[in-house]
Amino acid sequence: SIKAFLFDLDGVIVDTAIYHYQAWKRLANELGFDISEEFNERLKGVSRTESLEIILAHGGLVLSDEKKTELATQKNGWYLELVSRMTSDDILPGVATFFSQVRKAGLLTALGSVSKNAPMILERIGMTNAFDAIIDGTKISKGKPDPEVFTKGADELEVSPAECVVFEDAVAGVEAGKRAGMFVVGLGSSDVLTQADLVASSLENLTVEDVLTKASN
Ligand code: G6P
Ligand code: MG
Repeated sequence: SIKAFLFDLDGVIVDTAIYHYQAWKRLANELGFDISEEFNERLKGVSRTESLEIILAHGGLVLSDEKKTELATQKNGWYLELVSRMTSDDILPGVATFFSQVRKAGLLTALGSVSKNAPMILERIGMTNAFDAIIDGTKISKGKPDPEVFTKGADELEVSPAECVVFEDAVAGVEAGKRAGMFVVGLGSSDVLTQADLVASSLENLTVEDVLTKASN
């Protein structure tokens, strides 16, 4: 039976996905090209360095490691500026209600994000204590779609993958959850998140009971 829910951060708990996109777009623009919202789907859930590689390949640029480090640092600076004004008001609709249902159901919770900024964001929105385990970009060596971030979450909670449900807004994150052997709820469009076991537009449109029923079938 299901014992734990594992949540992605950006685009699931809080709408930072838009800020990552804006910062990457600004970087691409300064390099002389653009990235569309559709292209951005490929970056969601992907680590900072890997995202930069995908963007540079898209723009047809080959740069030195030194230059790449500089660009990644620049993007992160812009991202930090964008998130610096965030508060608990920025928590996505439905999250608070869903988490109170999760607690009532006696489920364990983990954060599974490849973002190195995840602990800082959780502090800003006052949700650090909502998680029994926090796996972030500083604790993993492989980003999504590698399953590491979720298998580590299950390990820390001392549950098996079959006892876990993952909540994800990214194609790479859904793949990571499936490769970890978990039931995956995709949050977004079913046209994009084709590998998910269940798709809803946001946590606002889901109840814990729904998820547990579907995950146990
Ligand atoms: C999340 C986001 C990605 C971001 C990655 C790394 O997975 O969905 O867009 O690139 O984290 O974030 P960081 O804060 O470490 O640059
Ligand atoms: Mg995400």
